[in-house]
Amino acid sequence: MIVNTELEQKGNLFPSQIIKFKKDVDTLYFYTENNVVLQLTVLRDSVLRFRYSTTGTFDNDFSYAITKYASTGYNKLEISENDECFTITTSKLRCEVSKKDARVSIYDVKTDELINEDEIGFHWEESYEYGGNIVKMSKVVNERESYFGLGDKPEHLNLKGKRFQNWVTDSYAYGKETDPIYKAIPFFTGLHHGKAYGIFFDNTFRSYFDFGQERRNVTSFWAQGGEMNYYFIYGPQMQDVVESYTDLTGKPHQLPPLWALGFHQCKWSYYPEAEVKAVTSKFRELQIPCDAIYLDIDYMDGFRCFTWNKEHFPDPKRMVQELYDDGFKTVAIIDPGIKIDNEYDVFKEALDKDYFCKRADGPYMKGKVWPGECYFPDFTKPEVRDWWSGLFKELVEEIGVRGVWNDMNEPAVMEVPNKTFPDDVRHDYDGNPCSHRKAHNVYGMQMARATYHGMKKFNYPKRPFVITRAAYSGTQRYSSTWTGDNVATWEHLWIANVQAQRMAMSGFSFAGSDIGGFAEQPQGELFTRWIQLGIFHPFCRVHSSGDHGDQEPWAFDEDVTDVVRKFIEIRYQLLPYLYTAFWNLVEHGTPILKSLVMFDQEDNQTHYRTDEFVYGNQILVCPIQEPNAKGRRMYIPRGTWYNFWTDEVVDGGKEKWVDAEIDSMPIFIKEGAVIPKFPIQQYVGEKNIEELVLDVYFKTGKETSQLFDDAHDGYDYTKGRYSFRTFKLTGKTNELILQQHKEGKYEASYKTFKLNIHGLPFEINEIQLDNETISIEQLKVNGTVAMVVDKNFSEIHLIGK
Ligand code: GLC
Repeated sequence: MIVNTELEQKGNLFPSQIIKFKKDVDTLYFYTENNVVLQLTVLRDSVLRFRYSTTGTFDNDFSYAITKYASTGYNKLEISENDECFTITTSKLRCEVSKKDARVSIYDVKTDELINEDEIGFHWEESYEYGGNIVKMSKVVNERESYFGLGDKPEHLNLKGKRFQNWVTDSYAYGKETDPIYKAIPFFTGLHHGKAYGIFFDNTFRSYFDFGQERRNVTSFWAQGGEMNYYFIYGPQMQDVVESYTDLTGKPHQLPPLWALGFHQCKWSYYPEAEVKAVTSKFRELQIPCDAIYLDIDYMDGFRCFTWNKEHFPDPKRMVQELYDDGFKTVAIIDPGIKIDNEYDVFKEALDKDYFCKRADGPYMKGKVWPGECYFPDFTKPEVRDWWSGLFKELVEEIGVRGVWNDMNEPAVMEVPNKTFPDDVRHDYDGNPCSHRKAHNVYGMQMARATYHGMKKFNYPKRPFVITRAAYSGTQRYSSTWTGDNVATWEHLWIANVQAQRMAMSGFSFAGSDIGGFAEQPQGELFTRWIQLGIFHPFCRVHSSGDHGDQEPWAFDEDVTDVVRKFIEIRYQLLPYLYTAFWNLVEHGTPILKSLVMFDQEDNQTHYRTDEFVYGNQILVCPIQEPNAKGRRMYIPRGTWYNFWTDEVVDGGKEKWVDAEIDSMPIFIKEGAVIPKFPIQQYVGEKNIEELVLDVYFKTGKETSQLFDDAHDGYDYTKGRYSFRTFKLTGKTNELILQQHKEGKYEASYKTFKLNIHGLPFEINEIQLDNETISIEQLKVNGTVAMVVDKNFSEIHLIGK
């Protein structure tokens, strides 16, 4: 069945007149003459849920996306009615439901601006073939409205004028505009008149979003089954929208271990053991920092998950330990397909216990993947997930693997036209039995979830690290992700940049691309430019398919190695800054990458920018995406910025040419920022950090910066053993004041901060530390003044002559 249009179908049905209304605490029910029920729940003052039934009753309310930890509660809920409509008012929104046809309009309660309005609104088509409905929603496009989000779409950041599909798909060597690919994240943000709102359509069937393509003034979304069930989230700031969506679908359950934010090296495949060791030793020999090494499918015995090829890896436990002693954490791949082999324990057990997916008429779901013919566990069944978690005992607890990589979990099936299971495959769906049409988009998510629980349990008290290829909304709670099988081309560098930004604005910050490209081989220049971008992605891994040559930092010429080393070193220096951004993600759902539109939505210039983004809160980055470049034009957002390399100060709100030879790239620091830095380490924890650098960028005015720290692994931070420092900078013509506020019980190993003060416009005459005038040694290099102070200072005044 192809449903590629929401309106031009003959069988559309519409709600009629509302004839009854009922209220149950925070939920309102509107009943129409033709049996439609609109269930409207006020979750928060700025979050409303809309759910429609066409039969008068609702099915079991179950969602894999919504977390039980989502915030609830509102300050105000008032309901009134007149001849035309019902009005629901919270402290942020006013929502009108028309009595004539149940259409909805939502306003900002304070400014009375219309934020979002149904066009036809809810409508549906009966699905004779499968039962149930094709459920549809259409909304009016506002003047100059822009649209963002939807996960991993390899498209311009602004989705206006385009149509997309959500159906998790194995997409080897996808290209710009290939749709759909690996993820299904049916969440978008709309922005008009400086105000942003989000819509999360929590429906796991194949779904579509049309942002004014079919009809210029209409945005619509629909799905091939299930309910019209969506959440409306008001900002008005785009960052607030994404934070609320992340609150609803879940923040990562814990911080990643700090090593997972280091550099990762991967290839399909490093084997045997000697080859793995040759790679890791080369990193140390060339002094290129690296924290993780990956084992792709060839470590297994005939691609049987949870086994080892003993010829290539005779003693995995010893190897993993030796790698660990050298600072390398081993990450191993685990796929969902279980080889049909009666001699294979995992297969036999799952068969005995009836854990494999079956076709509608009874046979097992059989499909080809790397091991040949396989059966596939039904990860949508709690008992199966428990069993799967348990399988990690040996790999993680005994052998010491520190991360698990879930791949092919769309689920991918080879040599079949649709690349996945047929529609009729049955799933448990946590006690809500259904076909693959409904379970497909969550299959990979539920596999990652089961893997996460296994990792977490057997790696305890260390934190788990999981990476998954397939995902549905909410997967960010359990796992990191990468953008799948990309290609070593300049266009794919552009794609990697938009995908990482888009994932961040879709609630899934911990993402990155296969640096250098998975398929084909990059030239040294492309590899270098990709590394420069990749070090600013929350997940940073080089990966490639082995068929196309080597892709280690030394596989090109020496100049490439040197520039790559220099940039990986920058990543390691900025680890405390990145870790603080992860803290904000885990605590508040704050995206780690901010596209310019999120950074400054009031500036219309940002609405169609794709290349530039802000890393954390204060570092502006723009990759070079073309060969032979000596620099590029880029948009500098409003405000004042320091060039990272030269300290040159530039005023934003305009495009500017920025020099960037191959050993450089455009990086700017927001004025007033305090950027924490570690010394360069070859891996996280290599050094006992004795001093932390704070790069302070002078500003006339005020700016606040943050620094989170803890033991870098384990769960002590959840019991208060962390430190969270806030730095308040105030700059005046003749004075710089830096105030520090600290909370939490953690004491870092370092005792002092080395302040590097950039752009100080005066000669220091007097230094006051916590109200006492003192003399501190100052060192001035290239206009930057350096001094060392106790890390627990409360207030420093640098006073000019
Ligand atoms: C898939 C993955 C890729 C992996 C390969 C072999 O193509 O996307 O990352 O290397 O399978 O396991």
